[in-house]
Amino acid sequence: MTAKISSFEDYQREYAHSVTDPEGFWAEQAKRFQWQKPWRRVLKWNFRTPDVKWFVGGRLNITENCLDRHLESRGNQTALIWEPNDPGRRARKITYKQLYGLVCQFANALKAQGVKKGDRVCIYMPMTPELAIATLACARIGAVHSVVFAGFSAVSLADRIKDAQAKVVITSDYNARGPKNIPVKKVVDEALALGCDSIEHVIVHQNTGDAIKMEPGRDIWWHDAVKGRRKSGKATVVNSEDMLFILYTSGSTGKPKGVVHTHGGYMVYTEYSFRNVFQYEDGDIYWCTADIGWITGHSYIVYGPLLAGATSMMFEGVPTYPNAGRFWDIIQRHKVNIFYTAPTAIRALMAAGDAWVKNRRMPSLRVLGTVGEPINEEAWHWYNERVGKKHCPIVDTWWQTETGGIMISPLAGITPLKPCYATLPLPGIQPCLVDANGHEINGNDVEGMLCIKYPWPAIIRTTYGDHERCRQTYFATFKNKYFTGDGARRDADGMYRIIGRVDDVINVSGHRIGTAEVEDAINKTPHVVESAVVGFPHEIKGQGIYAYVITSAPISDAAAFKQTVLDTVVREIGPIAKPDKIQLVPGLPKTRSGKIMRRILRKIAEGDTGNLGDISTLLNPEVVDIIKTGAKSI
Ligand code: WTA
Repeated sequence: MTAKISSFEDYQREYAHSVTDPEGFWAEQAKRFQWQKPWRRVLKWNFRTPDVKWFVGGRLNITENCLDRHLESRGNQTALIWEPNDPGRRARKITYKQLYGLVCQFANALKAQGVKKGDRVCIYMPMTPELAIATLACARIGAVHSVVFAGFSAVSLADRIKDAQAKVVITSDYNARGPKNIPVKKVVDEALALGCDSIEHVIVHQNTGDAIKMEPGRDIWWHDAVKGRRKSGKATVVNSEDMLFILYTSGSTGKPKGVVHTHGGYMVYTEYSFRNVFQYEDGDIYWCTADIGWITGHSYIVYGPLLAGATSMMFEGVPTYPNAGRFWDIIQRHKVNIFYTAPTAIRALMAAGDAWVKNRRMPSLRVLGTVGEPINEEAWHWYNERVGKKHCPIVDTWWQTETGGIMISPLAGITPLKPCYATLPLPGIQPCLVDANGHEINGNDVEGMLCIKYPWPAIIRTTYGDHERCRQTYFATFKNKYFTGDGARRDADGMYRIIGRVDDVINVSGHRIGTAEVEDAINKTPHVVESAVVGFPHEIKGQGIYAYVITSAPISDAAAFKQTVLDTVVREIGPIAKPDKIQLVPGLPKTRSGKIMRRILRKIAEGDTGNLGDISTLLNPEVVDIIKTGAKSI
């Protein structure tokens, strides 16, 4: 591990270089890796169609850079540490050499199942080492992985399988999560019963060993699939711009879209950002508590750390099992140096009381990080004082599924911190703020919509199967800019604070949820005519989900009806999208053109009913008072 940004002056120099000569700057970074064939051209781009290509003509495989490249220098170093859900079980450590063997072996098994370069493979698994192995094995043979968070419902899983036309699903028998064993394979069976015709095989990893049903001819056990397969083999060489993975994420309209990332640029950017943001030192134990089902797990449990030759820990369980001291236990036991988690987890542990963390000595900790949602001041200080004992810089990392890697963040111990601020852009990242008319807002101490003006290597390439949707969503709002969907402020010193989404996306416990998706799910409940979903401030989750529901006839048993609504949402999406509050209403405030006035609904959900603004232009202003009164008893 070499060449980290080492001082603020160094950062300023590197940033300036990245702006005056982006291609030269990124070419220098890309040279750190093994390329089977060098690129002809560093960057080709336009944000109009959009079309962005990095390291054009280069040929490589990202897993060769995650694994083979390290065999000589760190073959016996631990690559992955797996901490199981059950605190009584021993952690599993996998060296780089072992991981190489396991990935090659499973890659060979996938090939034997007929998986070829370019085929899509859906992975629906709990946080076991096999999840990381399956992911890397796909990449190794040039297949495209689509990891689906194992908390999504059968309906959501089926939607994603169909959209990607996946050939194989890789899953596990059960998910051991806290005190529960959640049937994962059963969800796959239910999903496949919804007509996923593209699926030829299901590979099942035996995790808990509890009984499941196997479908002869279609299903095969992981341990049978790898039997007799070689633990070595060359990676399939692909083009820099060949698809590495699809990851579905929610937007303001319609169904989740498949964000596409490619081998070359994603590799260069995740490694660069990992190394510099966390200031990883050889021998450090790095722990990111995310799930590999989300982008944070892709970029900063699997790819970034392995590319950098780090020791990356993954955790199967939940922060509060068997008690709220679990995270601190794990940090103590494994001597974790760098700890990366979400504000929602920090707030939940803070609410559990200081006793769990107060008497812990965690002298190994050097760097703390957060991601996924804005962190509030109280949680920031608690994290700094109680967990970091005031000597660990907190990197508040702002980024998105679409950006592939961290975009705006302090570099630990190198650039200045400011509570609740993501602070400064990484080298190579050119953010700007834009007003409602699309004009860039210059100067400091200003607020606007956050855009990025220039491509970086891990930028989204397309939305799978629907390039026009990618253009519309990210590149059509403001000319020649990537639009993030977030609002931000830039303070007097040029530091960025992310305020939150300015579109109809809400952020619940760090999970992105589209209000339209939740409405579609609610509308499938019998007797529901229409619904409107908005976010409201929630002490632990950051935002909660508030649903206004119109029914076709008066409901006599409101509690039972609301339960049916919740069950429907769980069936259609999963428990993460369950509304926290449901209010039955006779109507929704609408404009004369029939658009729901969400601004009013948001205010009522926030409990702020004093000043709702001008409602006289509404089609049905009388409904506002009824909703206001009803909200008081929710
Ligand atoms: C939000 C997660 C404030 C933001 C990596 C963004 C944040 C969305 C931060 C992306 C942060 C992420 N401070 N807000 N440090 N990090 N967000 O795609 O609204 O799951 O647009 O990627 O999370 O969520 P996603």
